[in-house]
Amino acid sequence: MNQLLDPPQPSLFAPIQEHPNLLMPSVEPFYETRSGAAYLGDSRDLLKAMPDASVNLVFTSPPYALHFKKAYGNVSKSDYVDWFLTFAREVHRVLTDDGSFVLNIGGSWNPGEPRARCTTSSS
Ligand SMILES: C[S@@+](CC[C@H](N)C(=O)[O-])C[C@H]1O[C@@H](n2cnc3c(N)ncnc32)[C@H](O)[C@@H]1O
Repeated sequence: MNQLLDPPQPSLFAPIQEHPNLLMPSVEPFYETRSGAAYLGDSRDLLKAMPDASVNLVFTSPPYALHFKKAYGNVSKSDYVDWFLTFAREVHRVLTDDGSFVLNIGGSWNPGEPRARCTTSSS
């Protein structure tokens, strides 16, 4: 490798300056390595333990607004937005100004909507 042309690349496993578990010193990680930590719990409680503007990415696949019930519990479609806002407000608070929110919410729809508008013209 030509050091002049190819600057050193950051390693995925390079030592990090500040361990992520410093973000929530009052919460015990479920699992941790020298690169990160995993927490087990209600994510609303965990988010509340995190400081403002402290993370660059929130990546989640929460329960979807489905018309049927899943074993892990999911609110009805009509309650979904209000329910999801309890997470979204915390996500917004912990993200840095240039942070990203990646949300996977699956596919769901209301039968018959949006109503198709059919126009005909006779010429
Ligand atoms: C659509 S599933 C996503 C599954 C995940 N992508 C996977 O492969 O295991 C939604 C998950 O969110 C979890 N969940 C629901 N409410 C939660 C909450 N308040 N905090 C943390 N997880 C929650 C459910 O238990 C379920 O496992």
